[in-house]
Amino acid sequence: MFSAISEIFSEKLEGKEVTIRGWVHRHRISGSMIFAVIRDASGIIQATIKKDKVDGKGWNDSSEAYVESSIIVSGTVKKDERAPGGYELQVSRFETVSRGEPFPIAKDLSEEFLLDVRHLWTRSQKLTNIMKARHHIVNYLRGFFEKEGFWEIAPPIITRSGCEGGSTLFEMDYFGSKAYLTQSSQMYAEVFVYSHEKVYVLAPSFRAEKSRTIRHLAEYWHLEPEMAWYDQKMNMELQEQMVEQVVQNMVKHHPELLKACGREPDDLAKVKVPFERLDYEKAIARVNDLSGTEKMKYGDDFGADEEALLTKSETKPLFVHNFPKDIKAFYMREDPKKPGTVLNNDLLAPAGHGEIIGGSERIWKLDELTSRMKEQKLDTKDYQWYVDLRRFGSVPHSGYGLGVERLVKWILNLDHIRDAIPFPRTINRCYP
Ligand code: 4AD
Ligand code: MG
Repeated sequence: MFSAISEIFSEKLEGKEVTIRGWVHRHRISGSMIFAVIRDASGIIQATIKKDKVDGKGWNDSSEAYVESSIIVSGTVKKDERAPGGYELQVSRFETVSRGEPFPIAKDLSEEFLLDVRHLWTRSQKLTNIMKARHHIVNYLRGFFEKEGFWEIAPPIITRSGCEGGSTLFEMDYFGSKAYLTQSSQMYAEVFVYSHEKVYVLAPSFRAEKSRTIRHLAEYWHLEPEMAWYDQKMNMELQEQMVEQVVQNMVKHHPELLKACGREPDDLAKVKVPFERLDYEKAIARVNDLSGTEKMKYGDDFGADEEALLTKSETKPLFVHNFPKDIKAFYMREDPKKPGTVLNNDLLAPAGHGEIIGGSERIWKLDELTSRMKEQKLDTKDYQWYVDLRRFGSVPHSGYGLGVERLVKWILNLDHIRDAIPFPRTINRCYP
């Protein structure tokens, strides 16, 4: 019977013999003693191996083990205030399963090198904890939509046309004709509001982002809900409820994991609805106010700098809504109360993190859609099936797209989006 390391940290096992299997995390020999740290999927524990307490093979195995050798170890659990977690293992049996070769990752290596050996660096406590947190975040997202009565829909990844403009499309050869990796599953989610009413897609989206930034990936996971009968007001309410629930679940159920990732749970506890709603024009004025210059004028879009400025001293996410229609995608419905602007929103994460969600009420009337497409010089033939949806029992509907890695980056307060995904794809990296 093997114990998980996390099970060892309890009064019940103090003084008892346990057997664990895992990997050598750290290793130091000092005369006839070895100080090791052992890890498994559940955590790490300190272990001491004394030469006279193990047999000859055990001593050989343990003294020759490398960092990352896989091992099976038995020993007695002892309370020790100085050990991480408050317990250590006094080893009585040590068996190496695979010694392997000296592990190439030691201290103080460059970020580029760590990205080259990402397939090994994923074993680090840092990435292990982040990926555990990501797992919980995605589970809470799914849990939220399950509770709200949404259906999950599987979209295609290979498509014939873009959803978010041509400049970031990845083109591919599809048996001799042109196709693209999907930029967004929104249009395919829209198909299902006519049958399932409330749906979401959780799938990768691809963007040929030419720039290197701390928040852009070429491949990211995109959560895209789409709701029949929802107007933009209901759309924004759904977004803030979703964010509140995910964040509060993390604070309540995983405070230690948050801390291990470098995020103070108390900071996140403040993330409660309602979030502030800021009209685009007021947002521009605020950016100019905060920067003390005329940084932005009507018609500009917010870049990373402007979003950072806008959210730097915020503790909760912030909605910016009603953007000018000319700088937004063709499918967003014009606001009848504020012509020239669309019923849309970005949701910006606080403390400089910036945009995590983009959403809107969709144009659902056929003539409105075709005339907007004309305005934006799009050929309806390229979007025939999408236009078709408005010809048969069309309904008002709204939806949004959340960048999962953007959300993870903010919740865990990561410096860079690449650590929110196991194998980041960027302009100059698609290996390993
Ligand atoms: O704002 P975007 O481009 O909106 C859409 O794609 C809509 N079709 C979504 C919808 O309404 N269903 O992208 C939505 C979100 C952004 O707010 C951001 O969080 C994320 O996707 N995102 C990226 N994340 C990482 N790397 C990139 N290059 C991203 N581009 C967008
Ligand atoms: Mg956007």
